[in-house]
Amino acid sequence: MSKPYYITTPIYYPSGNPHIGHCYTTLACDAIARMKRMQGYDVMFLTGTDEHGQKIEKKAKEAGVEPQKYVDDIVARFKVLWERMGITYDRFIRTTDPYHVESVQKIFKELYDKGYIYKGEYAGKYCTPCESFWTESQLVDGKCPDCGREVVDAREEAYFFKLSEFGERLEKLLTENPEFLQPPSRVNEMVNNFIKPGLEDLCVSRTSFKWGVPVDFDEGHVVYVWIDALSNYITALGYKNDAYNDFEKYWPADIHMMAKEIVRFHSIIWPAMLMALDLPLPKKVYGHGWITFNGAKMGKSTGNVIDPFILADRYGVDAVRYHLLREMPFGSDCAFSNEIMINRINSDLANDLGNLVSRTVAMVLKYFDGKLPAGRKDDPMDNELKQMAGEVGKIAETAFENCQFSFGLSEILKVVSRANKYIDETAPWVLAKDESESGRARLAAVLYNLLETIRIVSVLLYPVMPFTMPKIWEQIGASGDVVKWENALKFGALGGEIAVKKGEVLFPRIDLEKEIDELNALLAAQNPAVEKKTEEAKQEIVLADEITIDDFAKVELRVAKVLSCEKVPKSDKLLCLKLDDGMGGRQVVSGIAEWYSAEDLVGKKIIVVANLKPVKLRGVESNGMILAADAPDGSAKVVFPDQDLPCGAKIR
Ligand code: ME8
Ligand code: MG
Repeated sequence: MSKPYYITTPIYYPSGNPHIGHCYTTLACDAIARMKRMQGYDVMFLTGTDEHGQKIEKKAKEAGVEPQKYVDDIVARFKVLWERMGITYDRFIRTTDPYHVESVQKIFKELYDKGYIYKGEYAGKYCTPCESFWTESQLVDGKCPDCGREVVDAREEAYFFKLSEFGERLEKLLTENPEFLQPPSRVNEMVNNFIKPGLEDLCVSRTSFKWGVPVDFDEGHVVYVWIDALSNYITALGYKNDAYNDFEKYWPADIHMMAKEIVRFHSIIWPAMLMALDLPLPKKVYGHGWITFNGAKMGKSTGNVIDPFILADRYGVDAVRYHLLREMPFGSDCAFSNEIMINRINSDLANDLGNLVSRTVAMVLKYFDGKLPAGRKDDPMDNELKQMAGEVGKIAETAFENCQFSFGLSEILKVVSRANKYIDETAPWVLAKDESESGRARLAAVLYNLLETIRIVSVLLYPVMPFTMPKIWEQIGASGDVVKWENALKFGALGGEIAVKKGEVLFPRIDLEKEIDELNALLAAQNPAVEKKTEEAKQEIVLADEITIDDFAKVELRVAKVLSCEKVPKSDKLLCLKLDDGMGGRQVVSGIAEWYSAEDLVGKKIIVVANLKPVKLRGVESNGMILAADAPDGSAKVVFPDQDLPCGAKIR
């Protein structure tokens, strides 16, 4: 019996059209699911939509339709996109599905019966777009610490989940089980920012709106949307419902995949819920970085979304799949750029992989009439290629398994480059002039090594490019056992006489300049919000009141170097920077955490307002402020002096 493997994406809010950011997570899961199936696992790949909550209710109202109708339309678009992207999910859960609603009610009741949920009063602040409750002390400048938007007062009778009881167990889970939360940097963030300062009980019901799962034993209350949403991972398997019967088989999940902004919910609240329910915990939570565009997280609320349909239509689904997985570094953010994407497609896919296949197949056709004979003569000069091709399978497998897609793909493409170089080194067109038996056998060996390398890399690339790789197999005459995963882990599986076939061009080269112009025009037309914001930003340049040189002289600006940089606990916006200001050092708190992390700043010189009155932000002392410019997309860009100035140098 094959081993079960359970992988999930977050369930997405159907509150706007799906975009490249959603595609990234879903593609990453699809690639892993496909690899696991090839390895013989019995895979359950779950995705779906998170349809309740005040935000959706509000959006529906604005659109003038019932919430159910509103979400139905958007959910349909998600499904069409997943089909277009070749996503092979096994199950799609909607939190409005009746079986899920029933299970959530039972989960809520069980937690209540066990004493983990109790009734109290909620007084505080609520951020509607984030669906998050905050206490006064958690706000940053009176605004939502996650998104910086206005919060509203809220006070009502409500149910609470005793999250505060789980701090110790959660800390143990995160620190003693390094596999649980990946990449490892997220562990410190969770422990230091959330668990160490003390977990507060979580408000888990609302009475101020209707669009949610009703608490069935207390009319008027609906279940907090995150309790509803997180439960999907078990209700979709049939936990506390009769719709499915897969819970025993697939739970605990092998991996929950998501971007970093919701890691907190998955590595703190979700395990605490499972502990309270006496259920096993998922084996791994992986929080990847964000795809950014023009310096900000790509997202529905920022209006900077790239339409995946346009990209798939122009470059092919596989090229888009490849690019996204190749470009996003392990755990870090990745700036989306049309130019980088096109260059990547041209270099890796058109030039390297596409050429390798077409040159090799053309040579087998030309020199052997398309039928490579079995008699071959090896040479020590073949060893390096054979070794690389024989070893890359394990490397790629481990990398994909650990969500290091970029690394895995670059290792595979190294083998492709090596094979192209091997063609130049062996010069088959010269070997072809030797028509003796041994000359023919040597030429056959060279072409065999190329075909075999192509077979291996194409099997390894299949989970990422499932539409194109079978076309390669057809061209190189590979089918059946030789395109099985386990046979991509060793060199030499292709055997006997090999018949090749000329095929279409796999990845046509793209004319960068022409394409960029067309694409920008298209995306701008799709994306009026970005254009409009940029236009507004351009027009609204109104100068402040005049000042004299003496006024300016009061401001002391100095060059300083960033020595260290840490997030301020419980704040998603604030960074605490330690500076060498040439005067013994200082500490500055800056509201740039959304756009900068330690890697971007440490070691760099910046400009600090040195004589600003000290203040405390979130309890952390700030001596001065660092200069940053407003970018059109609403982000802040730190000003870096472009010459190496000494620390402490005064700016005038
Ligand atoms: O958070 N870069 O749903 P959501 C990378 N319903 N990934 C991105 C991204 C970007 N720019 N934008 C979105 C929710 N994503 C909740 C989840 S789970 C029980 C409930 C991906 O529609 C990424 O996986 O806001 C992120 O975590 C997810 O979409 C958030 O989708
Ligand atoms: Mg979100």
